[in-house]
Amino acid sequence: MILSGGEGTRLRPITHTSAKQLVPVANKPILFYGLEALREAGIRDIGIIVGDTEAEIRAAVGDGSDWGVEVTYIRQEAPLGLAHAVLTAEPFLADSPFVMYLGDNLIKEGVASFVDEFRRKDVEALILLARVEEPQRFGVAELDGNRIVRLVEKPKVPPSDLALVGAYMFRPSIIEASRAIKPSWRDELEITDAIQHLIDEGKQVEAHIINGWWKDTGRLEDLLEANRMILEGVVSRCDGSVDEESRVDGRVVIEEGAEVVRSVLRGPAIVGRGSKVVDSFIGPFTSIYYGVTLERSEIEHSIVLENSHISDIPGRIEDSLIGKNVEIARSMARPSTFRFVLGDNSRVGLV
Ligand code: G1P
Repeated sequence: MILSGGEGTRLRPITHTSAKQLVPVANKPILFYGLEALREAGIRDIGIIVGDTEAEIRAAVGDGSDWGVEVTYIRQEAPLGLAHAVLTAEPFLADSPFVMYLGDNLIKEGVASFVDEFRRKDVEALILLARVEEPQRFGVAELDGNRIVRLVEKPKVPPSDLALVGAYMFRPSIIEASRAIKPSWRDELEITDAIQHLIDEGKQVEAHIINGWWKDTGRLEDLLEANRMILEGVVSRCDGSVDEESRVDGRVVIEEGAEVVRSVLRGPAIVGRGSKVVDSFIGPFTSIYYGVTLERSEIEHSIVLENSHISDIPGRIEDSLIGKNVEIARSMARPSTFRFVLGDNSRVGLV
């Protein structure tokens, strides 16, 4: 079960109109990494929990056949918490053990070894944990050996630095536990409380600590870090065209039909299919999605979504997330003023 509802409040305005799980990291929607991770773990039957962005998620994932899996969509009427999602999925889950994977999380090593471990062990739940610097932003676990003895959601005073990573293995008992709990201070049925309920009933709940890289991509800085991490691993490829006056340094992927003219590309970076880069500079850790034009401008450490146009920007753009169909241009018209049409909760930094 992959969770792909939620409002994505921390990524507004992008998420006013789009699902946060479909924001591309290194030109691939975050959700697709999760689908791949589950498929690699040998899971073929995947339920995707969707909310208001259902149509968009359906359009992107379809019936799952592109991944060789079978996808069932499960509508959650409101984002009332992860345990509420479990209850919503009850008919789909029936009486099988399952993985619950949060669709906005990226786990570099995937979940295959974690799923194997659960298949081998006779435990009620197996929870993926990672050491983090700000545990108060997550669900936090307290361990006794491998066993989880206590879980707290976003504690002010964290009992450890072990955060819940957003991948959980459960047996059907989690359904009863989810029914037994009450909504939290943020008015959600927290999965953390449901797991605590299992522990309180004396059930065996174990931890699997991951050493590799992991990110909850709910905020801009996390998304840019995820983009950096994935771009670090790209292998150079050119399926588009680069003219003789351009220079490509380091690992750069140029997708099909992309055109690079009189420009400098310094990897790791990726230029999406059909995008056009003219008289420009693309610096490290930049992902340009498809159909974008970049003219007489410089950009680095940023993500640009599909079909946006950027031209004649006098300074270098960095640390930015630019949505779909956005236009950023310089106008020579008088009076010389700034002219903006910005969505709610947009953030603009001028020099
Ligand atoms: C959720 C869980 C939390 C977990 C986090 C991982 O938080 O409630 O326990 O650590 O995902 O991404 P949320 O994203 O709902 O704030």
